[in-house]
Amino acid sequence: MPEKIYFRSDLIELISHYKSLRKSFAEKARVIQKENCANGIYIRGLIEVSSFCRCNCLYCGIRKDNTDTERYRLSDEEILSRCEYGYTKGFRTFVLQGGEDLVFSDIRVAEIITHIKSRFPDCAVTLSLGERDEKTYRLWKDSGADRYLLRHEARDPKLFSLLHPSEQKLETRLHALETLKSLGYQTGSGFMVGAPYQTIEKLADDILYLQNLKPEMIGIGPFIPHNKTPFASYQNDFEKRTDENSPNKNSSEEITSCTLTSSLDRAELTCFLISLLRIIFPHALIPATTALNTLSQTGRKDGILSGANVIMPNLSPLETRAKYDLYEGKSNHTLETAEELERLENEMNKIGYKILFNERGDFKNKY
Ligand code: 5AD
Repeated sequence: MPEKIYFRSDLIELISHYKSLRKSFAEKARVIQKENCANGIYIRGLIEVSSFCRCNCLYCGIRKDNTDTERYRLSDEEILSRCEYGYTKGFRTFVLQGGEDLVFSDIRVAEIITHIKSRFPDCAVTLSLGERDEKTYRLWKDSGADRYLLRHEARDPKLFSLLHPSEQKLETRLHALETLKSLGYQTGSGFMVGAPYQTIEKLADDILYLQNLKPEMIGIGPFIPHNKTPFASYQNDFEKRTDENSPNKNSSEEITSCTLTSSLDRAELTCFLISLLRIIFPHALIPATTALNTLSQTGRKDGILSGANVIMPNLSPLETRAKYDLYEGKSNHTLETAEELERLENEMNKIGYKILFNERGDFKNKY
C-alpha cells in the first residue's frame, strides 16, 4: 500500500505551496529513497523503435499530422544489436518505446520480445508502445514482457479532451492501464507538468488517480512546447493570458498557469511532485526524465535529489535519436546517452548516489 494517502484538498494545498515546501519535501524523499534503495539508481536502456504514430496528441512532436518530421522505424536486427551493446555496458532492462505504429504488429513485437529474452534471460523487457487490445497485451506478456509504461496524461476528462483529439478517449486509456495491471505487468503511468490548461486542481486529480491505481512505475516530466504542434506558441499565449489585465488572472483555474510562466517553474514543480510521489510511494520506480533534463541543465541531478531512483539513458542508434522528436531541444547528446555512462556515474557519485549496473531493478514491494 502507499505509505501515505492524501485527500484532494491536502494535495491542492501542498501543490499551491510548492515553492516554500520543496526543500523539506526533497529532504524527506531522499531519506525514503536511501532507506529503500540505499542511494542506488537503476538504469534502463531506452530504445526508440519507431517515430511513426497513428495518434494526434496536440502536444507531441511525432503526432500524425506533423508532416514536417522525418519518420523512421528500426529493424528487428537493429533493436537486438542495441540490446547487445547495452548488455555489455551493464544494462539489464531494455525499454522498447515508440509511437503507435501498427507496422510493429502483435506478432512482430512478440518475436522481438522472445528474441531478447532468450538472448538475455537475466534482463527485463519494458514496453512503451501505447494503447493496444487486451489480446495483444496478453500475447506480449506471454512472450516474456515484464513491464509496460503508459502515461494516463490527464485524469480530468476535460483536460484530457483539450490535450487530445476526440477519437482518443480517456476511458480507453484508463481501461488499458487496468488491463495491463490485471495481466501482471509491472505498470507505469504518469503525466506532464505544466501542460496547457493544467491547473493545480487537475494535478491533484492526477495524483489521486495514481493513489488508486498503485502503479509500480511513475513517470512525470515538464511539458515542453514543440513548434510543429498546435501548442507551439502556448508559452506566449499563456503569458498573454496571465498578464496584469487578464480577467482570469486570479481565478482558481489559472493558478497553475500563473505559477508556471517560466521553464524554471515547471522544472521546480516537477521536482516537487517527484518528492511528493516518493513520499506517497516509497518503493515506486520513478525516473528523472529526459524532459526534465532537457528543460534544466541540472534536471537529472535535481530529479535524483528530489527522490527519483531511475535514469533512462538513450540506447537508440545515434542516427535516429534526433528524429524521435517529442518536444523542442530533446536532450540527445548529453549525459542521457548510453555512451556517456562513465560521466553519468561520476555525476551521481559526486552527489552520493551509485548506479546499479547489472541489476534488473524490479519493483520490490508488492501492493
Ligand atoms: N513535452 C513534454 N513531454 C511530452 N510528451 C509528449 N510530448 C511532450 C511534450 N511536448 C510525453 C508524453 C508521452 C511521453 C512519451 O512523452 O507524456 O506520454
